[in-house]
Amino acid sequence: MTYIKIPKGWEIPENRVTPESVYINRRKFIKDLGIVGAGAISLFSSTACAQDSRLLKQLKPFQEKTLDADKNEDFTVTRPLTDEIDAATFNNFYEFTSSKSTVWRRVEKFKTRPWEIEISGLVDKPMTIDIDDLIKQMPLEERIYRFRCVETWAMVVPWIGFPMKALLEKVQPKTEAKYVRMVTFLDRKVASQQNNTRLPWPYVEGLTLAEAMNDLTLLVVGIYGHILPPQHGAPIRLIVPWKYGFKSIKSIVSIELTDKKPRTFWNVLIPREYGFEANVNPNVPHPRWSQAREWLLPSRDRMYPTQIYNGYGEYVAHLY
Ligand code: MTE
Repeated sequence: MTYIKIPKGWEIPENRVTPESVYINRRKFIKDLGIVGAGAISLFSSTACAQDSRLLKQLKPFQEKTLDADKNEDFTVTRPLTDEIDAATFNNFYEFTSSKSTVWRRVEKFKTRPWEIEISGLVDKPMTIDIDDLIKQMPLEERIYRFRCVETWAMVVPWIGFPMKALLEKVQPKTEAKYVRMVTFLDRKVASQQNNTRLPWPYVEGLTLAEAMNDLTLLVVGIYGHILPPQHGAPIRLIVPWKYGFKSIKSIVSIELTDKKPRTFWNVLIPREYGFEANVNPNVPHPRWSQAREWLLPSRDRMYPTQIYNGYGEYVAHLY
């Protein structure tokens, strides 16, 4: 019998070598070498920041805190993995700056531990829990996901986290709960842009309860084998890979179950440009960016066709 593997939507190959094996080998290599090697190897493999000792220093304490999580083989992609340094030096985190390439420098004073997260609202068992206690209780796994920003850049990242469903099952949503509202920290002393009163701080995002319970919806606490560094939204963030990146809220302090559609940061600010649903769709242009094609970090040289639901239609198309 011939075995034919039918690729899933997000596995469509693209004309680049598959560096996932490189990443896996690198992780093994890093393990063999010990922690100090981790930063060093990442730096040497980067083009943009090859000599930057400040970046090495910034990332090192996070790379040292490795997380034990089995890889979930259902979620891999054939598109090449983004280099850790490229992902860590091109970020959106408007609490700190709107300059993507400098976020990593602006978050140096952002303390992401200790950290509490509150899960409340229309639930039978509300809780407030320290992030590390939560991590101990949850089924951590590694998933390699495609990630797509509405600004048309894309990346492929190995996230470590747990399905949001697992947390919601713990707190037991009441039958009236229809939406999940998530809120980022508010600390004007640490996050200078939160002093800009024209912006509706704190950052808020939301999902329908059905979206939050979907298998793809991940609460993320790690990346590239270790805890999240602050530029990626430490210590806990959302990842919803079939939606544009702005839905994937960072540094969450509150998850509230509600019967009202949450008013979200970007939707409040520019409703014409940012809807609540925000599913990746090549056929619906954003007023400022065609969504037909995307480019992969770090190079804008080549464009690739955008896939509906970012390739994850098999999981989520039935929701819409
Ligand atoms: N969450 C908060 N709190 N603040 C932000 O500015 N930016 C969003 C999202 N989550 C943002 C946020 C946008 S626009 C994107 S594309 C992703 O985070 C970027 O995630 P990354 O920097 O880890 O790649």
